[in-house]
Amino acid sequence: MSYWPHILYTQQFDPAWCDKLFRRAGILKSMIELEVSGKLRYQPSLQDELTSLREEFGNRLILTFFYEESTRTRTSFEAAAHKWRMRVISTPNARFSSVAKGESLKHTIQMLCGYYPDAIVLRTSQEGMAEGAAAVSSVPIINAGDGIGQHPTQSLLDLYTIKSYVGRCDNLTVLMGGDLLNGRTVHSLAYLLAKYPGVRLLFISPPQLSLAEKIISHLREHRVEFAIINDLARGLAEADVVYWTRIQKERFGGDQGLYDQVKGQYVIGLEQMTYLKPSAILLHPLPINSADPEILPEVDNHPQAKYIAQAANGLWVRMALLEQVVSGMTDTPA
Ligand code: NCD
Repeated sequence: MSYWPHILYTQQFDPAWCDKLFRRAGILKSMIELEVSGKLRYQPSLQDELTSLREEFGNRLILTFFYEESTRTRTSFEAAAHKWRMRVISTPNARFSSVAKGESLKHTIQMLCGYYPDAIVLRTSQEGMAEGAAAVSSVPIINAGDGIGQHPTQSLLDLYTIKSYVGRCDNLTVLMGGDLLNGRTVHSLAYLLAKYPGVRLLFISPPQLSLAEKIISHLREHRVEFAIINDLARGLAEADVVYWTRIQKERFGGDQGLYDQVKGQYVIGLEQMTYLKPSAILLHPLPINSADPEILPEVDNHPQAKYIAQAANGLWVRMALLEQVVSGMTDTPA
């Protein structure tokens, strides 16, 4: 099934499309960095391109509608839109919108479409809601996280970061750890990496938080090499990329007992970093839970810890994505 021009699941991307998006994101990064440093004027062709795209995009309207907490995803989408000089209407706490009065998502989306936005960036609390919104939307819906479902644009910036530091997206061993059951970023990244040849996935988590069967079946069906492991030192030593995630306590329905059982089981500190190959990188979609950290603060300045740079890459990847979406270029993905 084709979801374009909506951005709902990473299964709809393919390596050729990602590669093109990443190349564009890299160009946009250079443009904006030159602009920020005052040097864009020495590159007149880039300056002209940026100016003319900004003129074209200047009357485009992006709505961000977030039913759940967000720092990076919303601000980087909005910053990306602003860098293009698009206009943004931001609803950072949609729970306080008319949803609190009982309005359905269907009515909310249908009504928002009446304002002729060029895209709606939507974060919802339940899996499948972004797809439900897309079904009634006359404009592109960008899934910015649907409950424990997926977070496709996070995977784009994750993969862009992998490509920047490791130099490739194929022939990689990727260790994913933490809350594999509830972490939507892991789900999206696993589906996306499954499209690249030679990728081997290692999964480590407390047993209560292991990967859902449907993702495991997908990997089997697509003949992706994977293993569920419990030896952290071994996983760290074999990985080219370590993708660590937060225990999603807010998905536990208030079960403090479960949280107490699973927290702190797999923590990365400086000792664990010594098991990594020198070329391996540590990623995390962030936030790290500072109360019970799954990565200790001492790791932040480690040269192989790339999660802050990873978050910063959200700007370039989302600029490239918004450019495509508002230009209607996502109709022809590959
Ligand atoms: C993640 C999310 O919201 O799924 N954060 C993000 O968007 N970068 C990860 C998380 O909340 O743990």
